[in-house]
Amino acid sequence: MEIISNPEKVFRKIQGYKLKRKQVGFIPTMGALHEGHLSLIRKARKENDIVVVSIFVNPIQFGQGEDYNAYPRVKNADSAKCKKEKVDMIFYPKARDIYPDGYLTYVEVERLSNCLCGRYREGHFKGVTTVVLKLLNIVHPDTAYFGLKDYQQFIIIRKMVRDLNLNVKIKPMPLIRETDGLAMSSRNKYLDNDQRKEALLLSRSLFSVKKMIQNGEKRAVKLKKEVYRILLSGRLLKKRYIDYISIADPDNLDDLKIIHGHCVILIAVWIGKARLIDNIII
Ligand code: PAJ
Repeated sequence: MEIISNPEKVFRKIQGYKLKRKQVGFIPTMGALHEGHLSLIRKARKENDIVVVSIFVNPIQFGQGEDYNAYPRVKNADSAKCKKEKVDMIFYPKARDIYPDGYLTYVEVERLSNCLCGRYREGHFKGVTTVVLKLLNIVHPDTAYFGLKDYQQFIIIRKMVRDLNLNVKIKPMPLIRETDGLAMSSRNKYLDNDQRKEALLLSRSLFSVKKMIQNGEKRAVKLKKEVYRILLSGRLLKKRYIDYISIADPDNLDDLKIIHGHCVILIAVWIGKARLIDNIII
């Protein structure tokens, strides 16, 4: 397994693989790898000749006062996990490799980037789409894998790839949970024991609403009420810590009042220093 930080070197290496008609699978990450990330890597390993993982805590997708400095950075542990999964290459750039002095260019998917998490994290998705476009241009994979844990991120990236005619297949991958239901996230490390217990209310509320829908409830107000009821049943979670609860069209994230076919329920809440997101597709 190679660890390369220089973008041109990665580009040249991959061009070499392409000349040999190798299929390249790519998993962009910010590191602190857990089973959620590994599920993407394993899928890519099954489907490709060459598997590339990028590990880059992207400064421009963090807002002022967010956790850019605190975000876990565990290069050795991440490298060991990648090696175990038979990853061929880790792209491990430094911030100045991606954003050299005088950097000026950004890409933004309008509308989709300003709702839900985008309303609360100004500029976040612009930072995500910019870095993902750059990473795709450097790695040139045949397929890139994204987790549905970050549902809005997946929808936005899929839209960018379609709108800009990028020649890459974007594969959505299922959200991986701990056995007790908590959605896996590098940010779960910020939770202490009590907060970790309280965090279970997120998945519990989603599972409960799923049951209500299966039992015939179609009214979003009723379903949201149930999410609030469960979230606020704990000791730590207060209404002011809930950024949003949304019942939306899974294709375009439009808010739904009545559910006709499929829907996605998305929530974002603060527990202590951790901003947690979760969702369920029905
Ligand atoms: P990061 O949070 O490290 O996630 C990297 C990839 O792993 C994303 O596609 C994310 O959706 C997926 N992932 C994380 N937790 C998951 C889980 N519990 N189940 C399934 N997939 C999961 O998302 C980012 O990094 C960044 O925004 C990035 C796309 C790399 C751009 O900087």
